[in-house]
Amino acid sequence: MSAELTSQSGDPAFRFRPMTQADVPSVIAVERASYPFPWSEGVFRDCIRVGYFCRVVEVDGQVGGYGIMSYGAGEAHILNICIRADLRGRGIGRKLMQYLLERARAERVHEVFLEVRPSNPVAIALYVSLGFTQIGTRKGYYQAEGGREDALVYKLSLQP
Ligand SMILES: CC(C)(COP(=O)(O)OP(=O)(O)OC[C@H]1O[C@@H](n2cnc3c(N)ncnc32)[C@H](O)[C@@H]1OP(=O)(O)O)[C@@H](O)C(=O)NCCC(=O)NCCS
Repeated sequence: MSAELTSQSGDPAFRFRPMTQADVPSVIAVERASYPFPWSEGVFRDCIRVGYFCRVVEVDGQVGGYGIMSYGAGEAHILNICIRADLRGRGIGRKLMQYLLERARAERVHEVFLEVRPSNPVAIALYVSLGFTQIGTRKGYYQAEGGREDALVYKLSLQP
């Protein structure tokens, strides 16, 4: 099921809908433009194939972002959330996170986890504002220029 969302005045209208294999070329273009170490095309294709909760943000018929979450046994993991650079700072990332969390609640998830780079203060600010708290660090989790970068692990407990 996909939720339709309309914009506030002045911003582009957007909606969330399931990601399909046909979206992958557009998704990968956003991914490559957004991360120095992007996911491969195969990772996106596998996420869809195994039935993870994969949604795209559609703006004017184009992929304007996406979110991918796995869940089961009362836990969810937000694996990727990304908004196209020209659409950032308009509240779409926050709405996408809220949409993923709504789905997690509906699936009776009680704990949501995610990893983020310490060098990503924008994403960290978003997660903290939604109630996520840091519960640990994974040493050298990410590839980085000239070596590895730790991951900060964040958790949100959902009320039943
Ligand atoms: C992180 C990301 C998804 C946020 O999406 P967005 O649509 O730009 O975010 P929003 O406009 O909804 O803003 C949400 C919050 O992010 C933070 N934020 C957004 N832009 C910011 C900026 N330029 N500087 C600081 N904080 C910022 C604020 O906390 C903001 O909340 P507020 O509007 O109440 O102040 C987006 O920046 C992105 O795709 N980044 C590249 C990919 C990425 O890093 N993904 C996360 C990997 S863990």
